[in-house]
Amino acid sequence: MTKALYPGTFDPMTLGHQDIITRAAAFCEELYIGVAAGHHKQTLFSLEERSAMAQDIIEELGLSARVKVLPYEGLLVDLCRKHNISLIIRGVRSVGDFEYEYRLAAMNHHLADEIETLFMLPSERFAFLSSSLVRESAKLGGDVSALLAPKIKKNLLDKLGSQKNYV
Ligand code: COA
Repeated sequence: MTKALYPGTFDPMTLGHQDIITRAAAFCEELYIGVAAGHHKQTLFSLEERSAMAQDIIEELGLSARVKVLPYEGLLVDLCRKHNISLIIRGVRSVGDFEYEYRLAAMNHHLADEIETLFMLPSERFAFLSSSLVRESAKLGGDVSALLAPKIKKNLLDKLGSQKNYV
């Protein structure tokens, strides 16, 4: 039985993430979306907000029977061990991503060699996408409708509107 974890900061979840989730759910019997507390970067949305948005998306995609949201702090491999998960899924968009992802996967494998990382390529139309680029475009008035689910877009615009000093 394939049980996997797709971790990320999801600040916020974009259609690029949704693309990976939908495709991963096609071959995983159980898929967990690990929403990282984000100690490694300052986030616009809180952990609770990012997790709630991920949950909304999973329900919208009709995947809630097999896909669950897991907010987490601490080491990714500890989360995997706690939930008996031995496969981590990561999206690799470019050669630049690969360098970082390779090191992350190697460190996770060093920490827990029973856990494997599987790299997935995003669909071509989302290969350029990142949450920070979406946040920046939205902040500067760019149209991000084709990059986010409508609910997430609304949350982002509301959040940016309430945090005028956000950079
Ligand atoms: N579509 C769109 N964007 C994508 C994407 C896709 N398919 N795949 C990745 N991205 C983007 C994200 O939006 C994010 O963009 P941003 O930086 O502009 O906001 C970027 O790629 C990478 O972010 P993310 O996937 O959230 O990874 P991360 O590098 O911020 O964090 C964790 C990765 C959360 C899995 C990792 O840091 C972690 O688990 N940390 C916990 C501690 C730990 O165990 N560390 C490792 C061993 S020391």
